[in-house]
Amino acid sequence: MFDRFNRKINYLRISVTDRCNLRCVYCMPEEGVKLLSHRDILSFDEIVEVTKAAVRKGVDKIRITGGEPLVRKGIVDLVEMIGKIDGIKDYSMTTNAIFLDKFAKDLVKAGLQRVNISLDTLNPEKFKELTRGGDIQKVFDGIEAAKKAGLEPIKINCVIKESDQEQDAVEVTKYCKAHNLQVRFIKEMDLETGEFGVVQGGSGGDCGICNRIRLTANGTIKPCLFSDISYNVRELGAERAIDLAIGNKPQSGHTNVTGKFYNIGG
Ligand code: 5AD
Ligand code: SF4
Repeated sequence: MFDRFNRKINYLRISVTDRCNLRCVYCMPEEGVKLLSHRDILSFDEIVEVTKAAVRKGVDKIRITGGEPLVRKGIVDLVEMIGKIDGIKDYSMTTNAIFLDKFAKDLVKAGLQRVNISLDTLNPEKFKELTRGGDIQKVFDGIEAAKKAGLEPIKINCVIKESDQEQDAVEVTKYCKAHNLQVRFIKEMDLETGEFGVVQGGSGGDCGICNRIRLTANGTIKPCLFSDISYNVRELGAERAIDLAIGNKPQSGHTNVTGKFYNIGG
């Protein structure tokens, strides 16, 4: 389906949970996160129904996100249910990789093709600070497991303050070269002030060629990360919510005061 600005919308990002096992300083507050209640979270069947409707309208690229998707109970089953839908050409997940060594093989069996992994520094102490408690060794193990399982190409999301010449970014780049991983730099964003930038090495953040819509964990379709517009699939039905989201996708994004990365899926 095309939007008003003749952009072909073929990419659906599905946030399967607003929960995360980490608390990255730029993403989540340390405590007091208001989590969605169980009844607000879409069931697997509901997510599949929305995905099928999106595929009928021309979506052929799917990404599973969160929060952290691997903390959703039964995630492999959901990945498999979505993987069975005819017409998906590109099927990926964004994860912090902490649990990836446990899940990589099963995810491949379930039909997942590749993963994007968040890694902002190679320094174990700094990683622990940045994620408020994460063990970087688990990420390295997860990356190895993903490789072994064939979840490739593996892309690394590296959040930077200003430039890819910062020490952490330079070290991550080196690591990626040595381990045959693609790296993409994402400038730290602030949704509320509308400070956002293009993703170097990726396609996110470039409004003119934006091809995506998002499904949030609580069942709204959002046409733009940097806008408050959303359409509830339970109230409107999947078809209509998708039509409205694509039909009202803004030419470019500005600010978003109602959403956060961990519940819209980054
Ligand atoms: N700015 C930029 N990227 C962010 N992410 C989360 N919060 C922010 C933010 N404030 C991104 C991280 C992570 C992905 C899940 O979301 O890059 O890899
Ligand atoms: Fe969790 Fe990813 Fe947010 Fe970090 S950036 S807190 S890993 S959802």
